[in-house]
Amino acid sequence: MTALKNDRFLRALLREPVDVTPVWMMRQAGRYLPEYRDIRAKAGDFLSLCKNTDFACEVTLQPLRRYALDAAILFSDILTIPDALGLGLYFEVGEGPKFHKTIRTAEDVAALPELKASSDLDYVMNAVAAIRSALGGQVPLIGFSGSPWTLATYMIEGGSSKDFRFSKQMMYAQPEVLHALLDHLADAVIDYLNAQIDAGAQAIQIFDSWGGALAHREYIEFSLNYMQKIVAGLKRENEGRKVPVILFTKGGGQWLEPMLATGADAFGLDWTTPLNVARQTLDGRAALQGNLDPATLYGSSATIEQAVKAMLDDAYAHGEKTGYVANLGHGITQWVDPAKPQVFIDTVHEYSVKYSG
Ligand code: CP3
Repeated sequence: MTALKNDRFLRALLREPVDVTPVWMMRQAGRYLPEYRDIRAKAGDFLSLCKNTDFACEVTLQPLRRYALDAAILFSDILTIPDALGLGLYFEVGEGPKFHKTIRTAEDVAALPELKASSDLDYVMNAVAAIRSALGGQVPLIGFSGSPWTLATYMIEGGSSKDFRFSKQMMYAQPEVLHALLDHLADAVIDYLNAQIDAGAQAIQIFDSWGGALAHREYIEFSLNYMQKIVAGLKRENEGRKVPVILFTKGGGQWLEPMLATGADAFGLDWTTPLNVARQTLDGRAALQGNLDPATLYGSSATIEQAVKAMLDDAYAHGEKTGYVANLGHGITQWVDPAKPQVFIDTVHEYSVKYSG
C-alpha cells in the first residue's frame, strides 16, 4: 500500500500533533457540484451511481480536485443495508428515499436475513478498493454506515419522516420488537464496516442522523447502546495503523459524557453545541468534529471567513493543539455555490496555523 502523504485527519482524530486543522465536509460529493450532476445524469439514477464502481470512484474524487480537503469519503448511502436486507430502496424525485417493504412487526424482524456484506454489498467494497487505489495515498478514505436507530427509522417508516410516528409507536408499545431489530442491524453494521476496513477504509463514521429525536433515556437505550456494540465489534487497526471511529449524533451535543462509554475516538457535533463547551466536557478524552452551520455557506466570503475563525477560536479555547477536525454540522446542501466551500476550507487551513502548528 502507498504511504499516506497527508495524514493530519487521522492524527487529529487520535489527538496526535498536527501542522494545521484538518477539514472535510459531510456530503462533500453531491448535487451542488455541476460535475456530480453530469455523472448522476449519465448513471440515470442515484442507486445506479452507487453501484457503478467507476462512477462512484469518480464522484468521490470530484470535490478533492476542487478543494484542499484532508479526507475523502466513500460515495454511497446509509440505506444500502436495508436495501440489501430485501426492503427495496428507491428514490422518488423530490421526495427522498423510499422502501417497497416496511418493518412493523415481530414477524417482519424475524424474517430479516443475516447480512453478508462482502457479497451482498460487494459493489460498496469494490468502490472502496477502487477509491483507495485512485487516491494513491493523497488523503485517507472514510468508510461509513448509518446507526442502527437511524436505519431502523427508515425501515419502519418506509422512508424519511418528520415525527417518527411508527418508530416511536414501536419504541413505546413494543420495545422488545425494536430491540430485536436494532440488535440485528448492529450485527449487520459491524459486518459491513469491517468489510469496508478490509477493502481499505482508513477511518469510520457512524451517522446517527436521527438520534437527536429521542428523549435522553431512550437515546441511551435505543441508539447509544447499539453504537457501543458496533464500536466494540470493529477492527480498530489495519495496515499497521489505527482506524479511528467517529460517532455523529445530530442533535446529540448534550450527550457527550455518555457517548464516551462507547470507546469511539471522536464525536461529531451539529451547530447547536458550542465547541468550547464540548471541549470542556470531554477534557481531552476524545476528539471533536464539526460544526459550522451548513447554511453559513449561503453567506458572503467575508461572512464565512468570520464564522470559521470564530469556530476555530472556540475549538482551541482552552489551549488545545489537536483533537479537532473542522467540518460542517451536517451535510452540505445542493443550493451552495461551489465557490463558497473554498473559502471555508482555505480559512480553516490558514487561520489554524496559530493553534495547531
Ligand atoms: O458525504 C458524502 O459525500 C458521501 C455520500 C453520502 C450520501 N449519503 C450521498 C447521497 C453519505 C455519507 C450519505 C449518508 C446518508 N444518507 C445519511 C446520513 C447523513 C445525513 O445527512 O444525516 C442519510 C440520512 C441518508 C439517507 C438519504 N440518502 C436521504 C435522506 C437522501 C435524499 C437526500 C436529498 O437531499 O434528497 C439520500 C440520497 C443521497 N445520498 C444523495 C447523495 C449525494 C442525493 C441523491 C441524488 O443525487 O439525487
